[in-house]
Amino acid sequence: MPAPSHLALRQGIIDICREMNSSGLNQGTSGNVSHRIDGGMLITPTSLPYDQMQPEDIVEMSFDASYEGRRMPSSEWRFHRDILKNRTDANVVLHTHSVFSTTLAVHEKGIPCFHYMVAVAGGIDIRCAPYACFGTQELSDYALEALEGRTACLLGHHGLIVLAENFARAMWRAIEVEVLAKMYVHALAIGEPPRLTEAEMTRVMEQMRRMSYGQAPDIDGVDDTPRPRNVA
Ligand code: 13P
Repeated sequence: MPAPSHLALRQGIIDICREMNSSGLNQGTSGNVSHRIDGGMLITPTSLPYDQMQPEDIVEMSFDASYEGRRMPSSEWRFHRDILKNRTDANVVLHTHSVFSTTLAVHEKGIPCFHYMVAVAGGIDIRCAPYACFGTQELSDYALEALEGRTACLLGHHGLIVLAENFARAMWRAIEVEVLAKMYVHALAIGEPPRLTEAEMTRVMEQMRRMSYGQAPDIDGVDDTPRPRNVA
């Protein structure tokens, strides 16, 4: 048998699936992962335990929903397809049933700007999409709407979706969102926490954008960016 195409990406999908379970971000066969390829995506097969998954099990699917491979694609291929088609800023779609994100989602609650790190999802809050049955076009439509201008959203009575440019960023963002959800659930135990203002969140987003470039002066106008000592 010839080696399947996109071998490194297939293995990358398997690795991130195993990491999301071993890190406690997900459990069992819940969740699914896709990566953009030319004209379509590679996506996890439905209901296959991640520790049994082999590169040949990853399904190659075109945006017209035709697919190749020995397995059926994830039941959530619609939202993976629709997100990758519409969000050219993302190459990876990661869906998990992370416990704290889902705890909020079962209350149909998103994550407001109670903490500055909420900006890691690209905006002033992380929305929760209304409930729709798994695997439906309705769920995909709701998810796409909740993701507008964002790189993460919760799915009502269901879980979490994260978008990113690569596997490492997807894992990083998913962990950050799950930790925010955990903090928010804990904070709610002593009442709804106060929120940062929209202006402050805009400042945080600007600070994050600048810092990711690594060189730009600080937003206070003082260029105190750390520099290695041996560079003139
Ligand atoms: P699949 O195994 O079909 O990907 O479904 C898991 C899931 O989390 C559905 O939302």
